[in-house]
Amino acid sequence: MTLHHWIRQTHRWLGIFLTLTVLANFAAMPFGPTPPAITYAPLAPLALLLASGLYMFFRPYLRKAERS
Ligand code: HEM
Repeated sequence: MTLHHWIRQTHRWLGIFLTLTVLANFAAMPFGPTPPAITYAPLAPLALLLASGLYMFFRPYLRKAERS
């Protein structure tokens, strides 16, 4: 498996993980103030999604620039 493959696969699963952490926030809402661990749980997968997403976005342009 190439690095690019691995990053795409990780990005896909991070999307699922982010969705679960957001759902956990909504699920916790009826039970009073949400603990900070749940409130801030989406930030880690979101940061990793941003990094891997930007990598996937810019990779084709960087490769093109390398060739020309
Ligand atoms: C935070 C900033 C994000 C950026 C910059 C970003 C960027 C990208 C890029 C460039 C691709 C590749 C598109 C292509 O095929 O050319 C992609 C794929 C994808 N992204 Fe994101 N993304 C972000 C966040 C998210 C989030 C929040 C989710 C879901 C909750 C998500 C889920 C996915 C999925 C499922 C794919 C398809 C991956 C695959 O091919 O298996 N992304 N994203």
